[in-house]
Amino acid sequence: MRRIKIFDTTLRDGEQSPGASLNLKEKIQIARQLAAMKVDVIEAGFPITSQGDFDAVQAVAAEVRGPVICGLARTVEKDIERAWAALKKAAHPRIHVFCATSQIHRQFKLRKAKDEILRIAADGVRQARKLCADVEFSPEDASRTEPDFLAAVVEAVIEAGAGTVNIPDTVGYAIPEQYAELIRYLKANVPNIGKAVISVHCHNDLGLGVANSLAAVAAGADQVECTVNGLGERAGNASLEEIVMAIKTRRDFFGCDTGVATRKLYAVSRMVSGMTGMVVQRNKAIVGENAFAHEAGIHQDGVLKERRTYEIMRPEDVGVPQSKLVLGKHSGRHALRVRAKELGFDLSDTQLEVAYTRFKDLADRKKVVYDEDIEAILESEFAQVEEVFKLEAFHISSGTRATPMATVSLLGPSGAKTQDAAIGDGPVDALYNAIERLTGVKVKLKDYRIRALTMDKDAQGEVTVVVEYRGRTITARGLSTDIVEASAFAYLNAINSAVARERRDKDRRRSTRGTSKG
Ligand code: KIV
Ligand code: ZN
Repeated sequence: MRRIKIFDTTLRDGEQSPGASLNLKEKIQIARQLAAMKVDVIEAGFPITSQGDFDAVQAVAAEVRGPVICGLARTVEKDIERAWAALKKAAHPRIHVFCATSQIHRQFKLRKAKDEILRIAADGVRQARKLCADVEFSPEDASRTEPDFLAAVVEAVIEAGAGTVNIPDTVGYAIPEQYAELIRYLKANVPNIGKAVISVHCHNDLGLGVANSLAAVAAGADQVECTVNGLGERAGNASLEEIVMAIKTRRDFFGCDTGVATRKLYAVSRMVSGMTGMVVQRNKAIVGENAFAHEAGIHQDGVLKERRTYEIMRPEDVGVPQSKLVLGKHSGRHALRVRAKELGFDLSDTQLEVAYTRFKDLADRKKVVYDEDIEAILESEFAQVEEVFKLEAFHISSGTRATPMATVSLLGPSGAKTQDAAIGDGPVDALYNAIERLTGVKVKLKDYRIRALTMDKDAQGEVTVVVEYRGRTITARGLSTDIVEASAFAYLNAINSAVARERRDKDRRRSTRGTSKG
């Protein structure tokens, strides 16, 4: 099967993204991950542009093994020498020289005629070849260059020793069919084309970077230049993860493959996004938060019955642990039943109806219903939260200029009585400190509210506490005519809920292990 080389230019063209600069350490870390992901080429920078770029290319060349390490240079002697100085410690170095060829660049930017461009391009390649065996040439703005002139340049640079010829769509102007036609044209009209690898490099100004690259692959290009998350100048470059997964998922159509370890795609995308500060849009293909999330009831039902009904890739193949069913107002009973089971509640049909009515009511008011919300519904309706810890007695002393102190006795899991005392900032704080010492369960109090249920003097007080336990939120209530006792009940109910959740989690883990072994 034809093997397409993946040339990653995140550290060079990607870093040219406005606002996406990376420091040396970050570049080395990204390069290591790209190597672990098995890209074929890492373009680490443009050494002549700054000392920082030079240092980065030099460090990546010295430290990162596996892929070819490449540095960019204009067809100018000092650029090429600087690139080589940075690259020479690489196990597999490549100098990438470029020179614009389109009419508009020749006339306004370079002010040079065609024959001069032809000579400069070939000379640049020859000079680079004196230093490095692996040389790539890019005719900048190739897609807007007259095809016959482009063919002449490509022939000349191959003759001069370029092993790879890149055909950049520098300004993202190409249209897939037309770009594929250009590749076919070069294959048919450049006599020595068989001596070089044809590469493509597409910018995304019209949102066609990936489509153009793939059209070129289908037309015979063997290397694709791309960036993680599609970073790059202006609207960016073709996205590496989209190219790789399109080739993998539609192997039936392209009849080729890449060497990329696709299970690392998600982690590398997160790393690059974190370091560059360039947030990945939620609905970005392959690595966006929603790429494997389903909310519509019909889709959720389909995915639960057979994943392939609505998923063309397996989330784990790109490194996302599993598809997410986002529960919201479009979700159906099937998804709720599955999520309840994952949370440890095996619901009967009648229980499902009760839970579903409450869930829909909440989903109408909230965009996304989180696991905590569902757990709270299920617990309040069906869970017999066992009173593992029960209040037996308490005594509080508090007053002006006295440190509040609470003595509490509890009945513990085996019915055994335990007693302890603690001080606090106030009577309830002292009480909660004593309870924490006795139960050994550490929860974080996030909210505490008190209200009288009726208007009379001996009204019942209702205390509501919201606590956090191992990243999950638990709400619990306590009722009493004594507000300190109501506070103790509320806190103990929260702790008993935390213990019950922990038990359900353990049971779930045990049963998953049992299933996977079986
Ligand atoms: O877009 C472009 O033309 C480039 C070249 C330097 C390859 O980035
Ligand atoms: Zn570019």
